[in-house]
Parts: sequence; C-alpha cells; structure tokens
Amino acid sequence: MKKKPFNMKIINANETLVLRHKILRPHQCIEKCVFEGDELENTFHLGGYMEDDLVAILSCCQQNNIQWNDGYQWRIRGMAVTSELQGQGYGQQLVTRALFHLRDHSLHSRPIRVWLNARENARHFYEKLGFELIGEPFEIEGIGFHWLMTQQV
Ligand SMILES: CC(C)(COP(=O)(O)OP(=O)(O)OC[C@H]1O[C@@H](n2cnc3c(N)ncnc32)[C@H](O)[C@@H]1OP(=O)(O)O)[C@@H](O)C(=O)NCCC(=O)NCCS
Repeated sequence: MKKKPFNMKIINANETLVLRHKILRPHQCIEKCVFEGDELENTFHLGGYMEDDLVAILSCCQQNNIQWNDGYQWRIRGMAVTSELQGQGYGQQLVTRALFHLRDHSLHSRPIRVWLNARENARHFYEKLGFELIGEPFEIEGIGFHWLMTQQV
C-alpha cells in the first residue's frame, strides 16, 4: 500500500499535549505534560502530520545548560512519534527539520549548541542524528534513566 504523505509544520504548545501524554507520560496527568518554557516567545513546537492526524511532535526552547559556557543554547524536548509509526524515519525527519529551523533563524553565524536529555531507548536514535553523549546517565524521577546529549549546528 502507498505510504501517506508526512508533512511538518509549526504548531502551538497545547497541540502537543495529547501526544506528550499518550507517548511520553501516560502514567501522569495531562497537566504534567506542560513544560516550563512552552509558551516563551522563542520556543517553537513542530508537528508531523499524516493527513489531518498529528503523529509526531518535538519542542525546542532556548535554555542554557550549565555544562557549557556558550550563552545561546537550545534544548530539544518532548520528542515523540505515535507508536504505530515508530521506526519509519519520521522522528529523524522532525529532528532534522528542527535543527534546520534553528540554523535558519539564528541571528549569529557561530555554531548553535543544541542539547537534550535522551531516554535510554532513544539514545541510539539521537546518536544517528549526530548528538554525542556527555557524562554518565542520570535518573529523572518517575520517568527513568536519561543521557545528556549535544551537538553544535
Ligand atoms: C525515539 C523516537 C522519537 C524515534 O523516532 P522514530 O520515528 O521511531 O525513529 P526513526 O524511524 O526516525 O529512526 C531513525 C534512526 O534511528 C534508529 N532508531 C530509532 N529508535 C531507535 C531505538 N530505540 N534504538 C536504536 N535505534 C533507533 C532507527 O533505526 C533509524 O536508523 P536508520 O536510519 O539506520 O534506519 C520514537 O521511537 C518515540 O517516540 N519513542 C517513544 C518516545 C520516546 O522515547 N521519545 C524520546 C524521548 S527522549
């Protein structure tokens, strides 16, 4: 059967909540799926659609991690692809688009540091996209082990 087209666009924070809840935090109430910084002016949310269905999400906010001195850092979070469509390249497309968006909208020519806290299951996914591991895994209560990962774009 022919694959349905996958389209990506900027969405608002509220639109991410259903998938954040379903894929990332099903054991928590939906209010806990609102992240600090979701509504900040610079924050953007990307949605991946199949026809009218939102099937993939990612959020990106300007947030510095004390690990680095660079003053202009971005954090990717809330990355999820609906279960039936995982492993088909859609997550990769979304991250690639987000990195392109950051580079494209940057006011500076210098490299932009992008970082994230990767769940153990997503570590290889991010490595394939050029992120490198920093340090040892750490636990986020109620969610599990994570790895700090980064790349400059
Ligand atoms: C992690 C997730 C976002 C990846 O998106 P996806 O659409 O399933 O991944 P893709 O199909 O784009 O994978 C891209 C590459 O990463 C690899 N990959 C994806 N998930 C992987 C995993 N769990 N382990 C190892 N490799 C993985 C794929 O094999 C693929 O490699 P290839 O190009 O050589 O075939 C998605 O599976 C998901 O939503 N998982 C549950 C929620 C979650 O863990 N989110 C991340 C929170 S940090």
